[in-house]
Amino acid sequence: MNIFITGGTTGIGFELAQAYLREGHRVGICARDISKCPIEVRNKYKLLKVYELDVTDREALKKAVADFVGAEKILDMMIANAGRSVGAKNKLPNFEVAREIVDINIVGVLNAFDVAVEYMLPKNHGHLVATSSVAGLVGLPGVAAYSASKAYVLNFCESLGLDLAKYGITVTAILPGFVDTPLTKKNNHKMPFLMTADKAAGLIKKALDEKKSIYIFPWQMNLVMSVLRRIPRSWYRWLMKSKIFNYSEK
Ligand SMILES: NC(=O)c1ccc[n+]([C@@H]2O[C@H](COP(=O)([O-])OP(=O)(O)OC[C@H]3O[C@@H](n4cnc5c(N)ncnc54)[C@H](OP(=O)(O)O)[C@@H]3O)[C@@H](O)[C@H]2O)c1
Repeated sequence: MNIFITGGTTGIGFELAQAYLREGHRVGICARDISKCPIEVRNKYKLLKVYELDVTDREALKKAVADFVGAEKILDMMIANAGRSVGAKNKLPNFEVAREIVDINIVGVLNAFDVAVEYMLPKNHGHLVATSSVAGLVGLPGVAAYSASKAYVLNFCESLGLDLAKYGITVTAILPGFVDTPLTKKNNHKMPFLMTADKAAGLIKKALDEKKSIYIFPWQMNLVMSVLRRIPRSWYRWLMKSKIFNYSEK
């Protein structure tokens, strides 16, 4: 398969890229600073192509994907994974960070899918994937912009999955819980059910092999979030302010 992964130099994207490379697939990855991708890994896999670009720049992404697919123009899978978080949770919203989150987490996904469908629609074939988050299932305190951006990604994928099925295109939203990556290293709160990026990539790849439309993991986090989604909102507000969910300190 020809697989392009945005944000593939560290964390979940990096581990996913290696999982596909180990199976002999061609993989393209991109990031703003490609030096974060270890040189040994770049040398090890001949089927890996690395592009330095910002996903908010649609033209740059379009050029990179065109180079990656070459004359064959076959793109089997686009994984829109690049994203940023808020970092430390804030009681007061930081609107500058919120705008950056919209640009990367939302516009970045739009750009990736926009570029990918150009190759997928004519062939009636392809798999669009985006990394949302369990944070997109409810409005979490302290990370308003992040939570909202991931809700957008989730609903966008669910709608697109319905719209594009008749064109042979599958759409998957991935909703991880806490994964140990450079992104979560900045967190100043507790991270229940934290798992390694390697393990997360294995679970995600299995879900993608099965062409799931939505994949939430780990199961413990899925259970907690499904309760939080269903309870009356007054209970939710009470719980979020209670000691159980008071995650302002580690
Ligand atoms: N880790 C978790 O617990 C967790 C949980 C739920 C969802 N997620 C989501 O999973 C995805 C991957 O996160 P991660 O934890 O693996 O984070 P990570 O290790 O920080 O990886 C993020 C990747 O995206 C790239 N990136 C960031 N902004 C970019 C931009 N504007 N243009 C191009 N590339 C960009 C980064 O490289 P550069 O900085 O060099 O550009 C890096 O390769 C994100 O969408 C995140 O929101 C993570």
